[in-house]
Amino acid sequence: MSKKILIVGGSGYIGRQLFARLGHERAVATHHAHPFPGSVAFDPLTTHPEEWLAAHGPFSTAILLMGATRVDACSKDPAGTDPINIHAVQSVIRACLQQGIHPLFTSSDVVFDGHKGHYDESNPPAPLVQYGRQKHHIEQFLHATDAPHTLIRLPKVYDSDPQGSSLLAHWWQAIQRRTPIRSATDRIFSPVRVEDVIEGMITLTQSGQSGTWHLGGPVAVSMAGLFELFAARLREADPAMPDPDHTTCGINDLGFQERWPLDISLNSDRWIQTTGIAPQTPDAVVDAFIARLRLPFESQCGKSA
Ligand SMILES: NC(=O)c1ccc[n+]([C@@H]2O[C@H](COP(=O)([O-])OP(=O)(O)OC[C@H]3O[C@@H](n4cnc5c(N)ncnc54)[C@H](OP(=O)(O)O)[C@@H]3O)[C@@H](O)[C@H]2O)c1
Repeated sequence: MSKKILIVGGSGYIGRQLFARLGHERAVATHHAHPFPGSVAFDPLTTHPEEWLAAHGPFSTAILLMGATRVDACSKDPAGTDPINIHAVQSVIRACLQQGIHPLFTSSDVVFDGHKGHYDESNPPAPLVQYGRQKHHIEQFLHATDAPHTLIRLPKVYDSDPQGSSLLAHWWQAIQRRTPIRSATDRIFSPVRVEDVIEGMITLTQSGQSGTWHLGGPVAVSMAGLFELFAARLREADPAMPDPDHTTCGINDLGFQERWPLDISLNSDRWIQTTGIAPQTPDAVVDAFIARLRLPFESQCGKSA
């Protein structure tokens, strides 16, 4: 029997799209609280990962996406999120290594302190927030195993689906509902399209790569700058669109529990040059999003008062 790719956390935002791309012939996707067609239940806090892997395998690679992924929730509740983000991830990695399964762990740009920006894989992490500390803990754990592994650092992942749940869809919903939007001018990042992340993971896996990789988009932008690009392109597409209720601020004016790093943009040259993948620019993602809308604006909202 040929070995499949295991997607731990397959029911999440990235996992569902990765599973759809690979198909059930090549992959097994796990869920925790949110089953979906074809997914398999896995709770690493109550199940022995070794037994679970032996029962559901054999697997060549385990792509580890599971976790408590809301940065502020991790800041507010380290005791509630460390068990999944640290202890459960470690136990799954240990079980994978015991069974000869190559672990691919998804870390984050918030392992960096945000003082420098344009971070490449050689720059040392120095996380300011608990979510980043949890990710860095696993990075150090993986390095200490000395076993082959792949570590991918992701920035904010987004897409061009107006019906979806990512950044542009949230902004579009807020514009339609005329609800206020605040975005930070000093929060600099390298947003990356989910399809590019998925191709990146698959290409790195299929080509047998290990080590640390930054899978960021090609352009560093502020959150406010990305919003302004989005609003300007919407206005071009539909001059009758009302002005969004948008104000700018600093990221640390938004009332988070911990101070957030400012410039966590990633240098992803290594990934791009090695795989030949050309991740899409924010302009292209915004244009693709707008192309999928039914404009003019009023036709989406019905008759507004
Ligand atoms: N999306 C981004 O912008 C981004 C950026 C940087 C890094 N990352 C990293 O990439 C990975 C995937 O991100 P994502 O956006 O796809 O995350 P997500 O949508 O929040 O999905 C999280 C996954 O973890 C599972 N999970 C949560 N708690 C669990 C528990 N106690 N036991 C077992 N499974 C549990 C969820 O299962 P159920 O839903 O079934 O409960 C879901 O499958 C994460 O590790 C995240 O930190 C993502």
